[in-house]
Amino acid sequence: MTRETILSSIIEGVSRLLVRPSGPLTGAVQIQGAKNSALKLMAACLLAEGRYVLRNVPRISDVDHMCDLLEAMGLSTRWREDGALEIIRGHDVIPAAPYELVERMRASSAVIGPLLASVGRASVAMPGGDNFGSRPIDMHLQGLEEIGASFEVDRGVIRGKASQLIGTDVVLDYPSVGATENLLMAASTAKGVTVIHNAAREPEIADLAAFLNRMGARIIGAGGPTISIEGVEELRAVEHSVIPDRIEVATFLCALGVVGGEISLVGARLDHIELLVEKLGMMGLRVSPERGGIWAMAKERPKPVDIATLPYPGLATDYLPMIVTLLCFADGTSYATENVFAGRFRYLAELERMGATVRIEDHHMVIDGVPRLTGAPVKALDIRAGAAMVIAGMGAEGETVIADSQHVDRGYENFEDRLRSIGADITELDDE
Ligand code: UD1
Repeated sequence: MTRETILSSIIEGVSRLLVRPSGPLTGAVQIQGAKNSALKLMAACLLAEGRYVLRNVPRISDVDHMCDLLEAMGLSTRWREDGALEIIRGHDVIPAAPYELVERMRASSAVIGPLLASVGRASVAMPGGDNFGSRPIDMHLQGLEEIGASFEVDRGVIRGKASQLIGTDVVLDYPSVGATENLLMAASTAKGVTVIHNAAREPEIADLAAFLNRMGARIIGAGGPTISIEGVEELRAVEHSVIPDRIEVATFLCALGVVGGEISLVGARLDHIELLVEKLGMMGLRVSPERGGIWAMAKERPKPVDIATLPYPGLATDYLPMIVTLLCFADGTSYATENVFAGRFRYLAELERMGATVRIEDHHMVIDGVPRLTGAPVKALDIRAGAAMVIAGMGAEGETVIADSQHVDRGYENFEDRLRSIGADITELDDE
């Protein structure tokens, strides 16, 4: 490495992974708490003063970023010895999320709803995060406007205010996860009843509603398409345990599908991944419940299937890079359709570098499976694309070096260690 490359890797915190042919997988892995739930629960701590204790929060860099954001707003965060995350929200909150912090993570927009509800003001830089396609937050803002907030965008910063939020019927054009979450948090202390129609139904929404209800909110119907929120006067700080990460479960299952074996995923919930299990079953994987989690086995080369992403209970867009990778090894041709994020295709070029044969027809991917990929230098373009590269490398001949693997750390706790413990040959390269 040149001096400049080394310097830039230190400054930007870039890292690389070396993956060699792996498997079959065997043993048990503990599934972490859901990133996409934990980040929103952390934002919800802005709603009321007091000491919160969040258990089963994954120790990943996106959570560190959310801690930084909350601290910049005047809250304090601390990992306790028992592994729980403690968040203290005092009387004063600075209702501003600066660009340097927001650009690291799209989930930062989750602070808008709670800030408006508790402080009446929010000044939040336009969000960044994973770079796939256009990811606006117009529905968040429109929904919040319908319950009484007003916004202006000033030089890349969204400035919102609300003297009194007032419940009403809000119909979302699309069941946006982030918009539903912002509305849930903002409406919890609004005057009167808010009803969200066409709400997102993801398990993480139900987890956030359970957390808010524990804080004293009155939310009915979360997990379904219509959610009713009766505003309450006051909320209080509470303790809560985050649901398991279904995307991580999907990741381990796809790795298993590629290299074969038999594994237990401790803490995983089958009821959150029903359609995924059906599709994996069609590919030849066996997945069943066992005490405290799920058990899975893969013995043969995967069979081709057709899949399409949709809002929950459809197949999650976040699973797709890993499933597509699995289908690259299938015995035949599969079709995969991305319906949620139009621009989420860039990782295909990386898979092609490893010998995958994938082409795009409209918004469908046509994947002609091959018996084996070949190791190559590739890039982790975002969290899930990075995980997909790891899986591809496990099933490839020769060595795969994944650049920018810090993206993987944004979403997976000790990913390499846990994969290694069940039979993956994966090493973090020390570039210093
Ligand atoms: C969340 C998840 C993300 C997941 C996605 C869909 C977090 C931190 N991220 O993202 O991992 O892939 O759900 O399950 O929880 N849209 C608009 N306007 C809006 C809001 C969304 O056009 O105001 C569009 C988006 O560009 C996208 C689609 O709607 O095409 C889905 O977005 P949404 O459901 O809001 O996903 P996120 O909350 O961003």
